[in-house]
Amino acid sequence: MLENFHTYVMISGTSSGLGKALAEDWLSMEGVLVEGLSRRSSIKHPRYVHQFVDLSDEKQIQNVKINFPKGIQRAVLINNAGTINPVGIIDTVDSSSVAAHFRLNIFAVYSLMQNFLINHPKGALPHIVNISSGAGSYPVRGWAAYCASKAAVDAMTKVVAEEHPDIPVWSLAPGIVDTDMQKQIRNSDPNTFPEHQRFVDYHKNGSLITPTRIAQKINELIRNPERIQQPVFSIRDYL
Ligand SMILES: NC(=O)c1ccc[n+]([C@@H]2O[C@H](COP(=O)([O-])OP(=O)(O)OC[C@H]3O[C@@H](n4cnc5c(N)ncnc54)[C@H](OP(=O)(O)O)[C@@H]3O)[C@@H](O)[C@H]2O)c1
Repeated sequence: MLENFHTYVMISGTSSGLGKALAEDWLSMEGVLVEGLSRRSSIKHPRYVHQFVDLSDEKQIQNVKINFPKGIQRAVLINNAGTINPVGIIDTVDSSSVAAHFRLNIFAVYSLMQNFLINHPKGALPHIVNISSGAGSYPVRGWAAYCASKAAVDAMTKVVAEEHPDIPVWSLAPGIVDTDMQKQIRNSDPNTFPEHQRFVDYHKNGSLITPTRIAQKINELIRNPERIQQPVFSIRDYL
């Protein structure tokens, strides 16, 4: 099965939201094989393969196999899976979930970038895209873990981009996207998440962007990498 593809795209977090939209947009192009990683699977397509994996588990992260098909011209890794939880000002949060947050939002990104850079086939153009957040560059009360993990992704990306100047390595903030993560944010407890109302208002005012629109823009930029000059950027500057 893994033959006659010009492009291979590995995407984490393809079961919902932005990751699912990114996968579906790539699958709309002939000759593209998409391999997804998440605990659930919701895509059925002859050119889609899924690895069921919990990316908050260190062993499972290290066991991910990137199945590059033979003869591809382009290999893309999109580190998209992530969690917002735990949400709440620091003195209210159950800290037992914080280490798992960092394994998913930081360690899995590091490990998959490493795996991809070591193993990608010579002769195929490699490209790494990490989905970050504006929250990595400013404080949001109640999101200490999330702000820290996205800041870490931005920092790792800048280092890897300098280590591999011939390869596009990006960390991009996707804007406010209408996904389950935004629902979770609106459902969080206003007593422990002081910025709750702002996210309710974004939804009420129609400020959320569809995952399909953001996915199409990200994939268009991946196909035209010369448009991006800095490794860390916001997709809003390209809409
Ligand atoms: N939505 C926004 O407004 C927004 C804004 C800025 C940045 N982002 C970033 O965009 C990315 C996608 O988020 P989204 O909004 O599309 O959220 P989403 O709809 O909640 O999707 C999250 C995806 O990550 C996967 N995931 C979560 N925990 C996982 C685990 N332990 N192991 C493997 N996969 C896991 C989920 O799959 P399973 O549950 O099936 O495992 C799901 O496919 C995230 O990195 C997020 O931080 C989103």
